[in-house]
Amino acid sequence: MTTKMIRAIEGTRDYFAEDGARLSLAYTQAEAVFGRYAYKRMHTPVFEATALFARGIGEATDIVEKEMYTFKPGSDTITLRPEGTAGIVRAYLQHNLHKQGDSLTKLWYAGPMFRRERPQKGRQRQFHQVGIEAIGSADPLLDAEVVAMGIDYYASLGITGIRTRLNSIGCDTASCRQAYREKLRETIRPQLDSFCKSCQNRFERNVLRILDCKNPHCKALVKELPRSHEQLCEPCENDFATVKNTLTTLGLNYELDATLVRGLDYYSKTVFEYTHSALGAQDAIGGGGRYDGLIAELGGPATPAVGFALGVERVMIALDALDIAAPTTGIEAFVIGLGEAGHAKAAELIAQIRALGIVAEMDFGGRSLKSQMRTANKRGARAVLILGEDELANGQVTVKEMRKDGGQKAFPLPEAPAAVAQIVG
Ligand code: HAM
Repeated sequence: MTTKMIRAIEGTRDYFAEDGARLSLAYTQAEAVFGRYAYKRMHTPVFEATALFARGIGEATDIVEKEMYTFKPGSDTITLRPEGTAGIVRAYLQHNLHKQGDSLTKLWYAGPMFRRERPQKGRQRQFHQVGIEAIGSADPLLDAEVVAMGIDYYASLGITGIRTRLNSIGCDTASCRQAYREKLRETIRPQLDSFCKSCQNRFERNVLRILDCKNPHCKALVKELPRSHEQLCEPCENDFATVKNTLTTLGLNYELDATLVRGLDYYSKTVFEYTHSALGAQDAIGGGGRYDGLIAELGGPATPAVGFALGVERVMIALDALDIAAPTTGIEAFVIGLGEAGHAKAAELIAQIRALGIVAEMDFGGRSLKSQMRTANKRGARAVLILGEDELANGQVTVKEMRKDGGQKAFPLPEAPAAVAQIVG
């Protein structure tokens, strides 16, 4: 009888070899780039109270309506985080970060997120994001800095061909977004039957989402609708002008896109998305915006904030399309121990070599000198150390330089690590 193998859950995947290296690279670059803009790393739990996401992201969003992994272990209702912003804001309030000195708190995070979407290229149920949140300032220069930092991040990875879509959806006042929503409803109402069923549902609950419907027929109708960035109140219009002018001054290209409203309800004013042509239908490689109402919505004092999250799997697709490999460290030294005594001595010697910061490996299968040499060669070792019977009898080790024309020399055992360091150094 054969035992059935258990496979990974649909929409999740394993990362190893080249992809594993790219995932790590996405994280280390985040640390380097976001660090330059003075962001500090923050870690929050992978699961939170369901109410946090329902209130934070919005009841009428696709995420909250149908994509959350929600469990009821005992009396709690918890959800695997579908995104990072709500958890960061919860932590910011819980730990009174706003009372700790600076008026602006800059935080970055990285990790897995969970959404029960239909899996396809670039869309998974467990995916990874690197993201930032800048909490405590309404300055539109900060919006521009955040947009620019995302572009900087992609550039630092060597990803070319990033496009930045930009819009302003205004603030939630009677003279701005509320008036715009009404104007949209007035324009759509007489032709509502021509829109798809989802749009008809969105009409009362979340009329802005009609703007980014993917149905080609709706898309054509949307083109004729009033544009949000042309309906802003004066302060929002001024702020948006500053964001655009600053990006232009920085020499960064963007495209104004009136249909960009984002899939989460907490946004106000500036919203943006980065896209890349390698991604196909799911072309958003990252996105974000300002969310001045969220902190009050979650029980804190009214506090302006802006941030973004970048999809790591989508970054990996772009890297792959551009043939950009993540740097990997190969083996620098390989220690061959022959016979029982040689094998034991190899374990001792390799520890001394690694203590010098050298990447070293040995054989754990008791194989012949020839096959161990073959492995050392295949793994790209630059120095091979051989502990055979003769060497052991003399308290020595043979150190072989693997480059073409490289020689070999016997060293007293205590001198071998330094000799290896010279070869690989
Ligand atoms: P989001 O647009 O929902 O924003 O997600 C950001 C990015 O995560 C997307 O542009 C995409 O690259 C990636 N992503 C989203 N869903 C999936 C999926 N199922 N599979 C693979 N990648 C995916 C947010 O999450 C906000 N929290 C961003 C933010 C931070 N806004 C302000 N601060």
